[in-house]
Amino acid sequence: MTNTVSPNTVSIDKPANLPRHLAIIMDGNGRWAKRRFLPRIMGHRQGAKTVKEIVTACRELGIPYLTLYAFSKENWSRPREEVQALMDLLYEYLQNEVDELLGNRIRLRAIGELDRLPERVRGLLFETMEKTSKNYEMQLVLALSYGSRSEIAEAARRIAERCIEGKLSPSEIDEALFASFLYTKDIPDPDLIIRTSGEHRLSNFLLFQAAYSEFYITDTLWPDFNKKELLKALHDFSGRERRFGKTSEQILLRCTGSES
Ligand code: FPP
Repeated sequence: MTNTVSPNTVSIDKPANLPRHLAIIMDGNGRWAKRRFLPRIMGHRQGAKTVKEIVTACRELGIPYLTLYAFSKENWSRPREEVQALMDLLYEYLQNEVDELLGNRIRLRAIGELDRLPERVRGLLFETMEKTSKNYEMQLVLALSYGSRSEIAEAARRIAERCIEGKLSPSEIDEALFASFLYTKDIPDPDLIIRTSGEHRLSNFLLFQAAYSEFYITDTLWPDFNKKELLKALHDFSGRERRFGKTSEQILLRCTGSES
């Protein structure tokens, strides 16, 4: 039976087709705080609570990979106090959530220029990644100090070095080889990218990996995003036809097993 909740008639059942990899651009913390005449950091603090709720929901639903854009390379140029507050929040999150991650068999990973993180945050991050490294039910990937263009440039640089060293021939460079030089080398491409707070941008997030990702944009600000909103996005995704450049007919034939 389909159970629905008003006002948007969202089914709260588990959607039929879940993304294997869900990635989220968590936006709108500042606006959430501004609307309440609160300092921006209060928006981030509320946003961290949403992170907890969404990780739990994804684990319950059985989504194997969840990537959260928690701090971009460009975010380093925010006011010093805001950067400091975000790093403190990250530290707090790691401190408070390690048992939850272990209990739920969630592996924590991180992508980005991690050596730029403050030493104590980096230390706890690596410790938490190590502690959870044997977990297999779900992978939670935090994009931290992450920028996709520099990830791509760095991959190109390392590939060029291999070629100069004679360890790689230019003729061996294809999409799969290139992808194996990215931070996400053993993570599937995101099937669905959700962006909160209404902006229609990728903001330097997973540019190479998002080639065939579906997008879902909601006006809801990240601190107000919750399990109900997540299910709404997942049901929307579930109903989409992903053609990867093929025709509808070809996809239908493949589903019915009659493709020659
Ligand atoms: C974008 O909102 C959000 C960020 C730059 C930081 C995201 C951080 C969190 C959700 C909390 C900490 C994360 C973890 C993993 C514990 P914005 O500040 O750009 O919002 P605005 O566009 O409304 O100003």
